[in-house]
Amino acid sequence: MLLKDKVCIIAGAGSPRGIGYAAMQIFASHGATVIGCDLVMDGIRRAELIDGLKSSAGLDAQVDFMACDITKAADCDAMLHDVLGRYGRMDGLVNCAGIVESRGMLDIDDDSLDRMLGVNLKGAFTLSQSVLRQFVQQGHGTIVHVASVAAQRGGGLVGGSHYAASKGGMISMTRSIAREFGPHGVRANVVCPSMTQTSMLDGTVNDEQHARIVSDIPLRRAGQPQDVAGACLFLTSDLSAYITGATIDVNGGSHIH
Ligand SMILES: NC(=O)c1ccc[n+]([C@@H]2O[C@H](COP(=O)([O-])OP(=O)(O)OC[C@H]3O[C@@H](n4cnc5c(N)ncnc54)[C@H](O)[C@@H]3O)[C@@H](O)[C@H]2O)c1
Repeated sequence: MLLKDKVCIIAGAGSPRGIGYAAMQIFASHGATVIGCDLVMDGIRRAELIDGLKSSAGLDAQVDFMACDITKAADCDAMLHDVLGRYGRMDGLVNCAGIVESRGMLDIDDDSLDRMLGVNLKGAFTLSQSVLRQFVQQGHGTIVHVASVAAQRGGGLVGGSHYAASKGGMISMTRSIAREFGPHGVRANVVCPSMTQTSMLDGTVNDEQHARIVSDIPLRRAGQPQDVAGACLFLTSDLSAYITGATIDVNGGSHIH
C-alpha cells in the first residue's frame, strides 16, 4: 500500500484504455482516494468508469470522477475546492490530459498551434498553479506530468513539432516547479512515454508499421498504459521522497540518452 490515506487527482482519466485510467487503477489498489477528471463527465459515463475501476481495483476502491477542462483556471480551482471540501486533503496530482496531432511543421496553422500549446502546456501550467497554491499552504504535495519521448527526440511517432514543443515546455515547467517549490515540501517530476497502446494511437499505425517499430525497441514490445501508471505511482509515493525535477523515461529502451 504505497499511497494509503493519500488523496490524488488524475487529470485526463476518462478513457478506460488510457494512461490516466490505468493510473487510477493502480493508485486505488495502493490505498489512495483517487479523483479522475476529464473534459466530459456525465452521470452515465461517471457510473461506468467507477464500476470498471471497482471491478479491477476492488469494490472498496475509493474513486470518483469529475468534469474539468484543464485549460480553464475556474474549472481547476473548482475541482480542487470540491476535492478539499469532500476529502479534506489533496496530496498528489498526475496530469495525463493531452492531445496529439500529426502534421508537418509547415502545415500547422495558428489555430492548431494554439490548441496544442493551450491544452498540453498552458493546461498543465494552469492545473499546476491551482494545486500548488494548496500544496504551499499545507507544506507538501507531489506533481507528475506526463510528457513524451517526442520532446526528447524532436517529434514522435504521431505528434508533430507543435506536440513535441508542448511536451518540451512541460518538461521545462516541471523542472521549474521542482526548483521553486522544493523548499515548500513539494516534489514535481515528469515521465516521458514512447508508443503506448491507448486510443491515442488508433488509426495511426498499421500492423506492419507496428511490428517494425517494436522490432527496434530493446524490450521488443510497445508500452502499455500500466507501464506509465507504475512510474506515476513511484513518483507520487514516498519511495521517491528524494526525487524531484527528474525526467523518467518509460520507453522500453527505445531512446537511451
Ligand atoms: N499513447 C501514447 O503513445 C503516448 C506517448 C507519449 C505520451 N503520451 C501522453 O500521455 C498522456 C495520456 O495519453 P493517452 O495515450 O492515455 O491518451 P488518451 O487520449 O486516452 O488520454 C488523454 C485524455 O486527456 C483528455 N483531455 C484532453 N484535453 C483535455 C482538457 N483540456 N482537460 C481535461 N482533459 C483533457 C482526453 O479527453 C483524454 O481522455 C497524454 O498527455 C499523451 O500526450 C501518450
